[in-house]
Amino acid sequence: MFKYPIVVVGSQWGDEAKGKVTDILAKDADYVVRYQGGNNAGHTVVVGEDVFKLHLIPSGAIHKKKCLIANGVVLDPKVLIKEIDALEKRGITIDLMIDPLTTIIMPYHNLLDGISEAALKDKKIGTTKRGIGPAYEDKYGRRAIRFIDLLNKDIFRKKLHENVEIKKKIVEKVYNQEFELDEEEIYDEYSKLAERLKKHSGDVSKIVYDNIDKKKIVFESAQGTFLDIAYGTYPYVTSSHPISGGLFPDVGIPPRKLDVIAIVKAYTTRVGEGPFLAELHDETGEKIRKVGHEFGTTTGRPRRCGWLDLVMLKYSARLNGFTSLAITKLDVLSGLDKLKAAVKYTMDEKEVNFPLTIEQLEKCKVEYKEFSGFTITGKEKSYDELDDNAKKYLEFIESFLDVSISIVSIGPKRSETIIREVEK
Ligand code: GDP
Ligand code: IMO
Ligand code: MG
Repeated sequence: MFKYPIVVVGSQWGDEAKGKVTDILAKDADYVVRYQGGNNAGHTVVVGEDVFKLHLIPSGAIHKKKCLIANGVVLDPKVLIKEIDALEKRGITIDLMIDPLTTIIMPYHNLLDGISEAALKDKKIGTTKRGIGPAYEDKYGRRAIRFIDLLNKDIFRKKLHENVEIKKKIVEKVYNQEFELDEEEIYDEYSKLAERLKKHSGDVSKIVYDNIDKKKIVFESAQGTFLDIAYGTYPYVTSSHPISGGLFPDVGIPPRKLDVIAIVKAYTTRVGEGPFLAELHDETGEKIRKVGHEFGTTTGRPRRCGWLDLVMLKYSARLNGFTSLAITKLDVLSGLDKLKAAVKYTMDEKEVNFPLTIEQLEKCKVEYKEFSGFTITGKEKSYDELDDNAKKYLEFIESFLDVSISIVSIGPKRSETIIREVEK
């Protein structure tokens, strides 16, 4: 019923269970492609008692599908190698191809991420400190070291030197700190990492283009729509485009029709700073955090929790062009007496769409619709077996967004997934 190619997109602020759904969709796929972000992502796949936390490797790896990292990703080679080794120790051999144009995260990116966050003090973004923002700054500043550069000793040496000179000035002159990184050490270490990774270099843009109608391809985004550099709650965002359309330049293929599967957590969470109107600061929020294990996969930070926000999702649907919804973690809401969903924003007493700036967002008031509670056991095998009140909640989401639900996830395991036939 799913039509490949498929793109799996995060509809909220990340951690919607993209990893779980990508793994489910990867079962019948040939290739899984990660197209943006870096190891700020933490995607979880649970198979029986085995838990896999993936940061860079596409979530098709557990089904042993061909995994592609496209040029829109920012790649930390140290993290990638650790991830490959850890998976291989667990019996999972990775069939991996990395696009030569992929931007490399260098140690000075991690350094600058930490320094700039500290300098922002109470205005900090709350980044994952994985060097993501500084690496994308270099990409768009046209000075990044790309995977292909790392593989050529002379080019790497020259580009590294140019970059270290600039970064040293920034650290010393702008931030008044000592630049403790050593260019020679970086050169030696990263030359070795390049040697190790060179066998994975391959033209991802071309292989995807050549096979898009022949093979079943799943594109896996990282982060979520409201962390998008342009359309998210700027500046409390990441530095890439998690929205579906971002994949075309990030993979290097022309625009075409795709199945856009929106991963929608049955409530809302956010890690890091920034406005969150439907946030719960009470015991219900605590309960959701506890039951949903809402702690960051990458940084371990507690995630902020709140009600589902349908005003946000309406905007998300427009930006991404959802073809169907995968509602995840419905089981976490099981047992609540009543639940709510944000259905209307007003500013100065007038109804508004999700606003364009955080200054406007902070002026908005939220109206909620209340729903009766429901029970989910995790053993339901079909949509029909779900509690009637759960179905009412789901059907309200469908009608509000005018998009059908194709997947309902009622637990972290593969078996705790309901696939629903939907008309397209
Ligand atoms: P991603 O970044 O979007 O891939 O999501 P994360 O992996 O960071 O966070 C989702 C978390 O919820 C992981 O710990 C998953 O194992 C877990 N999970 C996924 N689906 C479900 C579900 O339907 N119910 C419950 N209770 N947990 C789920
Ligand atoms: P997945 O793919 C949730 C958040 C950070 C911070 C902001 C900027 O697992 O859904 P960055 O390090 O990217 O510069 O941080 O973005 N963030 C995420 N939040 N899930 C993620 O990834 C995230 N990746 C980044 O917490 O608020
Ligand atoms: Mg995550």
